[in-house]
Amino acid sequence: MTHDSDALVFFGATGDLAHKKIFPALHALVRRGTLDVPVIGVAKAGWTLDDLKNRAKESIDEHDDALDRLLELLRYVDGDYSDPATFGELRKQLGDAERPMHYLAIPPSLFGTVVKALKSSGSADDARVVVEKPFGHDLKSAQELNRVLHEVFPETSVFRIDHYLGKEPVENLTYVRFANRFLEPLLRAEHVEHVQITMAESFGVQGRGRFYEEAGTIRDVVQNHLLQVLAMLGMDPPVDHSSEAIRDEKVRFMRSVRPLIPSDVVRGQFDGYRDEDGVAKDSKVETFVAVKLHADSWRWAGVPFLIRAGKELATTGTQVVVVLRQPPARVFDRGIPNRIRFEISPNVVISFDVMIKKPGEQMIGEMVALDLDEKAADEMEPYERLLGDALHGDQSLFARQDTVEAAWRIVDGILGDVTPIHPYATGTWGPSEADRLLPAGAKWLDPDPS
Ligand code: BG6
Repeated sequence: MTHDSDALVFFGATGDLAHKKIFPALHALVRRGTLDVPVIGVAKAGWTLDDLKNRAKESIDEHDDALDRLLELLRYVDGDYSDPATFGELRKQLGDAERPMHYLAIPPSLFGTVVKALKSSGSADDARVVVEKPFGHDLKSAQELNRVLHEVFPETSVFRIDHYLGKEPVENLTYVRFANRFLEPLLRAEHVEHVQITMAESFGVQGRGRFYEEAGTIRDVVQNHLLQVLAMLGMDPPVDHSSEAIRDEKVRFMRSVRPLIPSDVVRGQFDGYRDEDGVAKDSKVETFVAVKLHADSWRWAGVPFLIRAGKELATTGTQVVVVLRQPPARVFDRGIPNRIRFEISPNVVISFDVMIKKPGEQMIGEMVALDLDEKAADEMEPYERLLGDALHGDQSLFARQDTVEAAWRIVDGILGDVTPIHPYATGTWGPSEADRLLPAGAKWLDPDPS
């Protein structure tokens, strides 16, 4: 079923996400010509349609024809999600629309109430539902959320947003792997010594202390964004580029990853975190984590995958680095191992670290980086790409139920206060205890400063 949705409803229309991401994405979609259907905001804020229009104007920098068109498309329903009258009004506003897309930019605890009310008001048939993270807080709650959504929507109509999957360089990771002959044969245990994925942020929790206390780094970015990125790197070639084929391979990879145990994990907390608003004075929540994963698959057996993420680190940058083994026999000096680096943000570069001979008499080498700068200039913002895909019914870049559950299975055993929490100074690379996860002789490879 890949029809286009004929209306876009977004719950949580007066919220922060709508202001920061959704309005700019809708504006970009109108400009691109992808969105020309009624856009109905729903919230309980005592607002009017004019208030919502003003909010939209505030969040969009460019006041052009596309903004005028978006404002024309905009409708608003104000009301409580537990009140059937809210959904009666929504049904009225939907008019002739028969295949709406409902975007739930609201806390997951409200999903059940909203989807049931959509059903009983006659707005769920042939509709799609788009949901935001966090998708559960452990395996059990994710399964429960899936159950609640599936009471009303089949999996083919559920779009779970992981905005990392909407990033151009993350998509390109899969593209580059499978569109080139030379790279793919290298990406296996025979040639790869280990893999490092780093997502570093030089800022803190930015006023989201309360949220962070519930989440911590593992739930916030590892279970979703970084395991998805790992699956893009680790999966086998899909049979074609259909969304099901790609997601089948991803889940096969995720299932091969051994569930983490406490000895695979080092957690840290930046100095000062406990003084943030909404944070407990004795909080044991992690703002940094490093984990070592293994995939028990033919392709990857024995290769450690290291993932490291944290707040208040030395720089902001996300990258995937594949460290290759040394050549099997030593002919020249032992150089630095070849590395394939996928820099995802803020720099967007694919680079190959290779050894070449230093000019001169001796056969001594030096490492040079062959950089392929990706053209990021007309990059689509993740929300623009993802909402456009959802309107068209393309699920490729959305997390499927089985993948989400497989990802929770990987981290379930290390959630909460099951490993020590090591303090670290802000502006550093986290607690030095993380070094114990590295293979012998290896170092953490830090993203370049932006
Ligand atoms: C979000 C996390 O999902 O991703 C944040 O909740 C994090 O903590 C953010 O900062 C990073 O995404 P991006 O695209 O801004 O790098």
